[in-house]
Amino acid sequence: IKHSRQSLSSIQASYFSNTPIFKHTHPSFLNKSDILASYKTIIADKLQPLFNVDYNHLSSSLHKPNKLEDGDLILPLPKLGLHQRHSSELQHYCELITRDNDFFEKIVIKGNFLQFFFNHDRLLNKTINDILKSGSNYGKTDCDTSKSILVEFSSPNIAKPFHAGHLRSTIIGEFISNLYETFGWKVIRMNYLGDWGKQFGIMAVGYEKFGDPKELENDPINHLFEVYVRTNTLIEDEMKKDGNNQSDTRIKAQEFFRRLEEGDVEALALWKHLRSISIDKYIKTYSKLGMQFDVYSGESEVKKQSIFNTLKQLKEIGLTQDNHGATEIDLTPYNKKLGKIIVEKSDNTSLYITRDICACVDRHQKYNFDKMIYVVACQQDLYMNQFFEILKQMKLTWVDKLEHISFGMVKGMSTRKGNVVFLDTIIAETTKQMLTVLQSKKQLTVPESEMRDIAEQLGLSAILIQDMKSKRVNNYTFDWKRMLSFEGNTGPYLQYTHSRLCAIQSKCEDIISLDDCKRANLSLLKKPEAIILTRLLSQYHYTLQKTMEDKEPSTLVTYLFTLSHQISTCYNSMWVLGQPKDTATAHLALYLASKQVLANGLHILGIQPIQQM
Ligand code: ARG
Repeated sequence: IKHSRQSLSSIQASYFSNTPIFKHTHPSFLNKSDILASYKTIIADKLQPLFNVDYNHLSSSLHKPNKLEDGDLILPLPKLGLHQRHSSELQHYCELITRDNDFFEKIVIKGNFLQFFFNHDRLLNKTINDILKSGSNYGKTDCDTSKSILVEFSSPNIAKPFHAGHLRSTIIGEFISNLYETFGWKVIRMNYLGDWGKQFGIMAVGYEKFGDPKELENDPINHLFEVYVRTNTLIEDEMKKDGNNQSDTRIKAQEFFRRLEEGDVEALALWKHLRSISIDKYIKTYSKLGMQFDVYSGESEVKKQSIFNTLKQLKEIGLTQDNHGATEIDLTPYNKKLGKIIVEKSDNTSLYITRDICACVDRHQKYNFDKMIYVVACQQDLYMNQFFEILKQMKLTWVDKLEHISFGMVKGMSTRKGNVVFLDTIIAETTKQMLTVLQSKKQLTVPESEMRDIAEQLGLSAILIQDMKSKRVNNYTFDWKRMLSFEGNTGPYLQYTHSRLCAIQSKCEDIISLDDCKRANLSLLKKPEAIILTRLLSQYHYTLQKTMEDKEPSTLVTYLFTLSHQISTCYNSMWVLGQPKDTATAHLALYLASKQVLANGLHILGIQPIQQM
């Protein structure tokens, strides 16, 4: 086997100059700081002529092993159809790969696997320097993809409670938006309010009876919900009393909704008022989570004309059939599980699904997105599949731009108010409980006046991490005690790790600057725990790509836990204060790089890292 020295040195040169050759690599891997991707290229370039297999297949077969003991990258030979290779032959290849360069610490042949361990000095210099240089941009894709995505999430119903499903949609939707931004996409965050439909009639009629403008002003979401509940009880009572299932209030409510649909000015004015006051309140609550929507749309925004056209189109293409005056679509010919769904009621009032179809088409026209994601709870899995199937049958060419991101349920999320969950109640309750936890800790350094804010921040990260630490499909139980603990895999634990790193930095601020760290002699980092931490840091880009592939926040969360545990291990043996300056600087450089990656990861999850506690 002849070995081309020239190609080797050209790779080496490009690697040194910080611009590896990505001739075969997917654009999403085009990130100069991504050391694992650079190494994939190096390894694939070297192995391809030796193994004579497809380059892309080879490069995509290289992956990060689960355990660092197994290497920085691993190649399963059977995946390339290279089963029965003699170990002496493999040994020979490994020698060819490592000859005349210092890319690798070692290459280990283990069974049918090649395990690649990166050279420590290269790893330390490349990883830590890149992180310190890029700062909060580390991990972001440097190429401008100029693609746009619309993420629809949260989407509560005015007049009905903001339940756990909306909470999860809010958390996961913000995470997805941040993730796409990290990859250079332009993101439009949209809240699609449930602000139309029968329940609006109930609320409006109820508001005329039970409403109180002052209470509405103070606490619109809770007040409207109380009105809604009282009105529903009234309807039930009326139906029982008459014995013949009649309710005056219900008839009035239906009447009100019909007036709304017909564009009655007075009815619309009340509806507009209730809607806008609710949105003001939502904006405030979301801002506590550090979140902001670009668009508050809603079911109400779907135009009558657009519904009319859509229904006409559905009928014309022969998708619909009559069912006792209502119009329905039978989806079973396309997929047995999808059943039938009504798209127009017999009284001609519009339906959730019909509004969704129109809204989707309108959005595509208005935003011309490259992708749209709906973050909606698994209770609506069937519904979403029906919705997408109808769009497909309408022969819209862009259906494959749509994706439904689903998630499981939350259990045990009751507060003093009973089983109903309001976002601000949850935040207030969490803050209160977190404050108690904080006050019981003696070693805190924060002044009393800042305690509440910190408790709120910690509480929010507790809620978010609890939500995102296991796979989206899983249900979980809301566990106040466990999620607020500083021990174990919790939000407060990640925050504690971050604030400790901040403390290390501030303690030696006067002696070692960030610039000193950027020039640190990193070869002084010899301890195995420092190397392990650096190897973990080098996996950040890879982790983000994996997270992007399956849109699982838990992939990133798990990584941040592993990173934090390793940071804790390093604290025990790697001091900064009291060390010779060059050692101290190298240690601090590693800690600052770790702090940066932890902070960047938390930001993607929608968490504001805490500086001090
Ligand atoms: N408002 C709906 C609910 O609470 C969720 C909306 C989901 N989005 C959609 N386009 N259907 O159930």
